[in-house]
Amino acid sequence: MNNIANMAKMILTAGFLTLLVACSAAPDGNGAADAEPPLAGAQIGGTFTLTNQDGVRMSEDEFKGKYRIIYFGYSYCPDVCPIDLSNLMLGLKLAEKGDPALAEKVQPIFISVDPERDTPAVLKQYVSAFHPRLIGLTGTPEEIAAVAKKYLIIYDIRKDEGSSEYLVDHSRQAYLFGPEGEPLALLPFDGTPEDIADEINRWVK
Ligand code: NI
Repeated sequence: MNNIANMAKMILTAGFLTLLVACSAAPDGNGAADAEPPLAGAQIGGTFTLTNQDGVRMSEDEFKGKYRIIYFGYSYCPDVCPIDLSNLMLGLKLAEKGDPALAEKVQPIFISVDPERDTPAVLKQYVSAFHPRLIGLTGTPEEIAAVAKKYLIIYDIRKDEGSSEYLVDHSRQAYLFGPEGEPLALLPFDGTPEDIADEINRWVK
């Protein structure tokens, strides 16, 4: 009995120590140079070719060498998308203000899950309201379905027959990818712009 009790105590202590080590190794904004990005090795992302807000076809390789912030949504979204995008882009602007060279390293991208209404012209007006460098991408329904699947985004166009007003339910996710298109972290879109800027600064080197 005693041995078992002691062993349980040892295991608990060991578990507690592991927890402490894990906590102290967690990045807190400084000195996290050797920390592993939370999404390192995750099977998220991949190639795509879509149409940007100027009607020009763009493929994923064109972002090679750049970090990317990728958010999926739609311009007619009445609440969540504009709030998230506004927060994310305020966070990026804050990070750029602290380190102006960051602007050349980070490309923000908005991918529409409502390709029927989000034409390039609609996207052009929409993205410019959030950040001067935000790229809006749309495509055929098939292209959007394929890219959403690669980026683990689920969406559901809730359209009744003959209705032009509809909502699109969609996953709410803000990804930060690295220069090779590798997933690094999720950005805290529901946090403050400072929180978002901190997370960008933590991983963009
Ligand atoms: Ni939305």
